[in-house]
Amino acid sequence: MNTGELVVTDLRVRRGGREVVHGVDLTVRPGEVTALLGANGAGKSSTVLAIAGLLREVSGTVTVNGETLKPGSPTRTRRVGIATVQEGHRVFADLSVADNLRIASLPLPSRERSAAVESTLELFEELRAMPTRLGGQLSGGQQQMLAIASALVAKPSFVVIDEMSLGLAPVIVQRLIPAIRAIIASGVGVLLIEQFTRVALELATTATVLAQGEVSLAAPAAELVANPDQLTRAYRLSEG
Ligand SMILES: Nc1ncnc2c1ncn2[C@@H]1O[C@H](COP(=O)(O)OP(=O)(O)O)[C@@H](O)[C@H]1O
Ligand SMILES: [Mg+2]
Repeated sequence: MNTGELVVTDLRVRRGGREVVHGVDLTVRPGEVTALLGANGAGKSSTVLAIAGLLREVSGTVTVNGETLKPGSPTRTRRVGIATVQEGHRVFADLSVADNLRIASLPLPSRERSAAVESTLELFEELRAMPTRLGGQLSGGQQQMLAIASALVAKPSFVVIDEMSLGLAPVIVQRLIPAIRAIIASGVGVLLIEQFTRVALELATTATVLAQGEVSLAAPAAELVANPDQLTRAYRLSEG
């Protein structure tokens, strides 16, 4: 159960010898979707990878449930309850759906694993119907479902999903939306990264827009839906 927020403060990330994220602040609350938006190259994935502990040249803090994480410790990040779904719906292509989820359940005590896999599959009936299908044989949408399910199996407090809808047909994205609603209803906080805003704003309570590695706007999602111009301006800052 979540007892607190995921708070990112003054996050700075260097990649390839230059700073690409310049002091980003954001908050994800339990039971809500926070959208992280921005054009291609704005620094969204760098922010995700830094939160996940997967980059080393990082400063600033990531605090969850009162614990502050040091950069570059992905195992500890997972242990404090932050799961990450990286860009490109990655799954183990040579393993079945069931085995992908079994591997994801390994951090749990052995007697809890199969129940955790079962309850996660309740969110994705489509996957439950094909436990023996190999990851590599799934459609892109099903792979994204499996990637999200794998992140959830170990019962994180927060899930960070990078580009959930990128490359998927709108009809497929619509099938993911109820799962995200069920995830937040269970109390998990979601940081949803999207380049295209419609789906993210439909789900989010608040939104943070990045432009050139800086926060150009942070506002309630409903405000941005009502003022699309404000959102367009925040995106444009990235075109310099
Ligand atoms: N592996 C890398 N090495 C060096 N620079 C990178 C690397 N990945 C991304 N960048 C640069 O970091 C900046 C932010 O990229 P990224 O975080 O991927 O943005 P987004 O996810 O918003 O598209 C871009 O200028 C990009 O070229
Ligand atoms: Mg990206």
